[in-house]
Amino acid sequence: MKHFLITIDGPAGAGKTTVSRMLADCLFYRYIDTGALYRAVAYEAKTVEISPDNDAGLENLCHAMTLKFIRDEKGTRLLSNGADITDQIRMPEITMLASAVAAVPVVREFLLNIQRDMAREKGVIFEGRDMGTVVFPNADIKFFLDASHKARSLRRYNELKTQPLEDVENDIRCRDERDSTRSLAPLRSADDAIIINSTDLSAEGVVELMLSDIKNAF
Ligand code: C5P
Repeated sequence: MKHFLITIDGPAGAGKTTVSRMLADCLFYRYIDTGALYRAVAYEAKTVEISPDNDAGLENLCHAMTLKFIRDEKGTRLLSNGADITDQIRMPEITMLASAVAAVPVVREFLLNIQRDMAREKGVIFEGRDMGTVVFPNADIKFFLDASHKARSLRRYNELKTQPLEDVENDIRCRDERDSTRSLAPLRSADDAIIINSTDLSAEGVVELMLSDIKNAF
């Protein structure tokens, strides 16, 4: 099969990362978790105490930042300025901060270029919020993965087990609101995206649907 660029967008907890990883394994593709890039900017900003409303500070931070995914025996790792920050960026406070810095134009512009650079070779799946709408409007196939707020919160809660369910529900509600109402690259499905609701589906069930859509599309 020819190598394509596939995008998977959707809200927090819809299962994008799990499904992207499984789909990439089935197709022998790479997958890129673009949320990790926003988390990296948030993590670095927090480390040097730059607040999300300090546009100039964030701009300087981004200009001095190098981001790179590598694969090693632990799986895919994210290096920021050469340091492995894969585990640190999953902390709940970084999650909320990521959604705040993601609304800042200089941050989105910085990461837009990085993401497009990463797409030079095809046979890749990009997952995020604006992959099919803004970053890769000409992607070969686009998916929008959604699920009920309850199902997404439960999944996140079971995955992390670091916060009470009620806190996870509130965090997701707050991020949904911020991600879908920001003026730049808000979370929404592309007009030509295939929409999948995973509320009552297993990850395997979603991947099966996607594989059949991919086969039908080409
Ligand atoms: O996907 P994840 O939950 O790790 O993303 C963290 C945050 O990064 C999201 O809440 C969203 O604000 C932002 N993000 C984004 N655009 C993307 C990927 C993530 O705005 N393509």
